[in-house]
Amino acid sequence: VRNAIDQLMAEGYLEAQVGSGTYVTSQLPDATLAIWSEKEPASQSDHPPRPLSSYGETMARIGRSFPDQPLQNNHPLFAIGMPDMSLFPGKIWTRLLTRYHRRTPIRQLAQPQSMGGELALRQALVSYLRTARAVHCDAEQVFVVAGSQRSLYVTAQLLLNAGDRAWTEDPGYVGARSAILCTGGRPFPIPVDANGLDVDAGIRIAPDAKLAVVTPSHQFPLGYTMSLPRRLQLLQWADSSRRWIVEDDYDSAFRFDGPALPALQGLDKNGRVIYLGTFSKVLFPALRLAYLIVPPNLVSAYRGALVPTGSYPPLVNQMVLAEFMQEGHFARHLRRMQKRYAEKRHFLHKLVQQTMSGLLELGVAECGMHVVGWLPPGISDTAISARAQQDGYHIITVSGLSQKQTRPGILLSFTSASARQMRDGIIYLEKIIAEQMKITH
Ligand SMILES: Cc1ncc(COP(=O)(O)O)c(C=O)c1O
Repeated sequence: VRNAIDQLMAEGYLEAQVGSGTYVTSQLPDATLAIWSEKEPASQSDHPPRPLSSYGETMARIGRSFPDQPLQNNHPLFAIGMPDMSLFPGKIWTRLLTRYHRRTPIRQLAQPQSMGGELALRQALVSYLRTARAVHCDAEQVFVVAGSQRSLYVTAQLLLNAGDRAWTEDPGYVGARSAILCTGGRPFPIPVDANGLDVDAGIRIAPDAKLAVVTPSHQFPLGYTMSLPRRLQLLQWADSSRRWIVEDDYDSAFRFDGPALPALQGLDKNGRVIYLGTFSKVLFPALRLAYLIVPPNLVSAYRGALVPTGSYPPLVNQMVLAEFMQEGHFARHLRRMQKRYAEKRHFLHKLVQQTMSGLLELGVAECGMHVVGWLPPGISDTAISARAQQDGYHIITVSGLSQKQTRPGILLSFTSASARQMRDGIIYLEKIIAEQMKITH
């Protein structure tokens, strides 16, 4: 009620009189608004009523669906992509941070920063990505940015004209879709199968697309690894008509079964792939550090795209991270997380097998930090998510990540939850799925 009153006051319908109370205003703002809309030329009557650009209208719509404050205290079983912070070597990080401040003359903090990111970090990234992901690049091709979401946005802005079509995976990462929409592009959802994005379907649905955004190492959210023939087919599609592929390699650092295929970027001979990586999963999301590897002939264009955004991630974080990588702490941390996540993944599978047979079927999780829990036929994932919302939990659903009808499923994280939390979370799920079954049968 207070919010409604505040809103009415902000819009001019109510006024507060000190020491007396709150009253409906004598002059309702509708009158003023009516005059304003009458003045609008008839030819513009289809246009949005507010003076926003057409991109701005899309942004406003997306903005309305995001709360100002992100959900705190989600159940860790539903908190997708959250690392297990109990493994993070906080003491080492703090030591490197203190050492950086002790060694660095204070005046250096007023020096201009490098647009692409600090050289030491870019070099550390080049050698890590070469060994871990078979990515081929020089330090000049690396841009350090504040999150992969920014990489997606800047890339869409740089490579798409208004109205240009782009392939996105379906189901897929909403951030890719919204980045394309906000820059005036038209995302076309392309189905995904066990081999990754279906390139033939893409050619049928949007043959003239300029760009494809894919998660080949670990399809988000279904978890498939794009097969080698599909990768080659996608590259061939891009090469044949000078299209772009955006490879979002968000959580492939953790692989449990099967061989790790090299990044698409490493297979690309003609400079068509833009590779995106992030430290949000392998370190922690609040670091807000991510990177782009761009083809050599796009380096100056990316510099031009990033300069106006003023996107210089904090120097101190970059320098500390460079030392963290150079001194081997990063590689050690990755190995520890890999081992722990493999154990946790196994634990979750056992738990679901023992307690939820017939209620939840886990999808593939050869890699990454989450797995899809497929629901029994007839149970809507939207209904499950709405029910969990009543208890303050946010469950991401497969249908929420899809533009078409899909098999209902929910995303489960096996990284940040402890064994006890996983058990509690599964008991909770069992309860709400059973409730839902009673309602529907
Ligand atoms: C598939 C995918 N891509 C990109 C991102 C964005 O990562 P960042 O935190 O670096 O913006 C996420 C984050 O959850 C993701 O799931």
